[in-house]
Amino acid sequence: MSAPAPSKRLFIKTYGCQMNVYDSERMADVLSPLGYAVTDSPEGADLVVLNTCHIREKATEKVYSELGKLKEMRDERVAQGGSRMTIAVAGCVAQAEGEEIMRRQPAVDLVVGPQAYHQLPELIARSHRARGERLSADFAPEEKFDALAPAGRHATGVTAFLTVQEGCDKFCTFCVVPYTRGGEWSRSPEAIETEARDLAAQGVREVTLLGQNVNAYAGDGGLAALVRRLAAIEGLDRIRYTTSHPRDMDEALIAAHAEVDALMPYLHLPVQSGSDRILKAMNRAHTAQSYVRLIDKIRSARPDIAISGDFIVGFPGERDADFEATLDLVREVGYATAFSFKYSRRPGTPAAAMPGQVDEAVKDERLARLNALLDEQARAFNASQVGKVLPVLFERPGRHAGQLIGRSPYLQAVHATAPDRLIGQIVSVRIESAARMSLAGALVETAELELAPEMAL
Ligand code: 5AD
Ligand code: SF4
Repeated sequence: MSAPAPSKRLFIKTYGCQMNVYDSERMADVLSPLGYAVTDSPEGADLVVLNTCHIREKATEKVYSELGKLKEMRDERVAQGGSRMTIAVAGCVAQAEGEEIMRRQPAVDLVVGPQAYHQLPELIARSHRARGERLSADFAPEEKFDALAPAGRHATGVTAFLTVQEGCDKFCTFCVVPYTRGGEWSRSPEAIETEARDLAAQGVREVTLLGQNVNAYAGDGGLAALVRRLAAIEGLDRIRYTTSHPRDMDEALIAAHAEVDALMPYLHLPVQSGSDRILKAMNRAHTAQSYVRLIDKIRSARPDIAISGDFIVGFPGERDADFEATLDLVREVGYATAFSFKYSRRPGTPAAAMPGQVDEAVKDERLARLNALLDEQARAFNASQVGKVLPVLFERPGRHAGQLIGRSPYLQAVHATAPDRLIGQIVSVRIESAARMSLAGALVETAELELAPEMAL
């Protein structure tokens, strides 16, 4: 047996969506056999990877400012006779503007698009010989997934993300995803089940299935069949999925929400706008009414389901009346939580060239009004849980001693005083108070737990 490689330090900074979180973990997995151990700061790191997001201009600009800081850090270290850190840019900015990154920030050693992460080890070795590699495979995800976790993956907690689908064919006119992540592509149910079993064997109790269009999952029987298959895995008690498109919310998936206990009552279903005129210009392929009807149907199947959404304000051509229609839709649906954004002009997307770009001040004002309404709804939803007993999966210690944090079925963070040994357990918690982002409660079975800790739940 060869001696273990000397340890090198790897710092990965992740921006954007949960898929980037998943990808960052896989990058760490693929680099670990090369002797890279993950560290939580760039100071002293041998390799820094920025896993970037291109969805809005702000997210992209953050990357350039971070690169500036890293360059300074590296120059200082080299001046003091320290080792040289390698700087890599991964993710959607790398995919969309690799050459631009190299030009704008000469400190960058290599750029790697989302479909080429499995080639990172080779790329890093090459970059140590010559700067300026740029690798972006042409969307061949099969190869990537197989190569990223040849020996299984390393679970880092009691919940895990699991990518099942990538890419998007919808071409909403504001969005860069179809260009950065390519067309829709699904992993095989077998590969996903293997990964899920491996996670469950390591103590993972909850998986969140990820995909830019996860409900367009095209493996046998679609997402509903995949959910049922994974629900049969011993120890895997909770299944979630994100993000969905209203167009792909089929009957089978709605039925799964009614019938599969492990499928959590939470659905992130972006609508973007409540105005049909704007929805059409966005190429969303649904109307406000068809969306509301769909929500009604889902609620008939699973009455307590928590609905979440994404909204864009200030899309080109959006008038006051269009924005009012969005507020009306929000009032009609009643969201448990939501994400709202000011329209951000993305080069190369159809909406960037549309007439009627909206003033920043108007966007700000609309965003504030929308957020006030969504905030009120989130508070009301959380407040409606007070007095109820919810099953909470405890994930980690809280900020205060003796406290744990977990999640309710509705994805709310729940704080409770509880012993560490309950991490990884699903425990009944009586909810006592609610805030905008979280709930607090007390264990229901305290007496039984103290009497028979080895039998705890
Ligand atoms: N500007 C603002 N928000 C955007 N989103 C996607 N593209 C843009 C853009 N150009 C939002 C959408 C999507 C979420 C992930 O990001 O609401 O659902
Ligand atoms: Fe972007 Fe629309 Fe595809 Fe979602 S469905 S990733 S918003 S193009």
